Amino acid sequence: MGIREEIEKRRTFAIISHPDAGKTTLTEKFLLYGGAINTAGSVKGKANSKYAVSDWMEIEKERGISVTSSVLQFNYDGYCINILDTPGHQDFSEDTYRTLMAADSAVMVIDASKGVEAQTIKLFKVCVMRHIPIFTFINKMDRDAKDSFELLDDIEKVLGIKTCPVNWPIGSGKEFKGVYDRDSKIVSLFKAVSTGGSKSAAKTEVHTDDAEFKEIVGDILYDTFNEELELLEGASEELDLDLVNKGELSPVFFGSALTTFGVETFLKHFLKMTSSPLARNSDSGLIDPIEEPFSAFVFKIQANMNKAHRDRIAFMRICSGKFDATKDVFHVQGNKKFKLSQPQQLMAQDRKVIDEAYAGDVIGVFDPGIFSIGDTVCMPSHKFKYEGIPTFAPEHFCRVVQLNTMKRKQFVSGVTQLAQEGAIQIFQEYSAGMAEIIVGVVGVLQFDVLKYRLENEYGCEIRLEPLPYNYIRWIKNPEFDLNKLKRANDIKKVKDMKENPLLLFVNEWNIRICLENNEGLELEEFRRN
Ligand code: G4P
Repeated sequence: MGIREEIEKRRTFAIISHPDAGKTTLTEKFLLYGGAINTAGSVKGKANSKYAVSDWMEIEKERGISVTSSVLQFNYDGYCINILDTPGHQDFSEDTYRTLMAADSAVMVIDASKGVEAQTIKLFKVCVMRHIPIFTFINKMDRDAKDSFELLDDIEKVLGIKTCPVNWPIGSGKEFKGVYDRDSKIVSLFKAVSTGGSKSAAKTEVHTDDAEFKEIVGDILYDTFNEELELLEGASEELDLDLVNKGELSPVFFGSALTTFGVETFLKHFLKMTSSPLARNSDSGLIDPIEEPFSAFVFKIQANMNKAHRDRIAFMRICSGKFDATKDVFHVQGNKKFKLSQPQQLMAQDRKVIDEAYAGDVIGVFDPGIFSIGDTVCMPSHKFKYEGIPTFAPEHFCRVVQLNTMKRKQFVSGVTQLAQEGAIQIFQEYSAGMAEIIVGVVGVLQFDVLKYRLENEYGCEIRLEPLPYNYIRWIKNPEFDLNKLKRANDIKKVKDMKENPLLLFVNEWNIRICLENNEGLELEEFRRN
């Protein structure tokens, strides 16, 4: 198969959801279809499942969760699929956001009984910033669900994206009869199946014109269905793929991941509607994934817990061409030519060393400490730099107190390295030097990682003193003089490692008041490096 065919069959996406909406269950069903795993229950990083053992960090083992997001590759129906896993639960971190920078589209899983939840909103914002297509899977229809129109309304109002249902549910919970495909007018019937993760649920189909349809769903649901359908035809958006590709319209599917109902239909439609790897912006313009030679950017760096070596794994998303492990590549930010060391790929639970990979794929390479988040790797004959990865706003802040002051040097080098790796963000008092260090994180687990790693890798004991701030904003117009900031009582002025000024706020109300009282001040939530 040529490079073009290899790249064109690739689909690289992330699944986003609020914890417990069913992201893992859906991923697992996708893997079952792809034949990448044989049993359900193999993906989850939960304490009691097979995948709980991770060789990356002690902390992962102790807690039975996966600190880092992984990438799963499998083949299905002629496609080569890369699912970028975005950690949720307690292990939600800046890595979760960064992973979205490596995806070409996103699948948003929503719990039908809950609607749009907090974490979905945060992840969604990043997808919107990138204008990537977003596909919605409304899950758990086998449980009592909110009204379907209300769910769509919720998505449109809360997330500000238009929706277009591709299929429509008939009932929910005990009364869940199935989903109606708006295109074929065929209803796939839901028959309660055992929840063991069997490959295909017992499923039959009926056309809405068939006489038995009414009998199957019952008079009440039949009438409701017809009313809803009329409303739907009148009110819902056309399925305009242009708008889908721009991230302005989300195709919506209803189903139940646990009972494997509606999953394969969703996967098939989704794969057909999404595109192969997209061109990316660089300082030499858009880089075409097929026409250009190998290039990639680093979106995540994962520390190795071997104390003897502070080596790490840098995860790169290949953006163009074919990666050939025998050839030299050029690290733009380091201005160096070398061969990538021990390139590896993850396939379900296995890690394997690879010789080649293509645009759309993610590879992990051994990193002796040279890479930073956002770095570009390309061919020595064809040099350019990809647009950097933004820094995402941390939501939790602590003052770091070093307990053993004799180890100042190790301490400074430790926090600096961890910040470079992207494990934490560090800030200083606006007017002081390195004297007071404030650390900011997206997920609180990152605090534990910081403490653990400073102790274990750098021999520095620290105490973390929580600060009451939850919001941070970069100053968009640096000419604004922060010394003249008005109504600044509950606001902390800090600067980041690049000396950019920032403000820490306790709540959103403070941000509003601050903006109202300081004419000319402009704030921003993401910062492009
Ligand atoms: P997450 O990765 O988004 O956090 O969610 P996950 O797939 O782990 O699912 C969260 C819980 O919801 C799990 O139950 C899972 O079995 C259940 N679930 C997922 N999809 C469906 C669905 O379509 N219908 C129903 N009824 N339940 C669903 P749990 O009891 O928390 O975990 P487990 O012990 O079953 O693993």
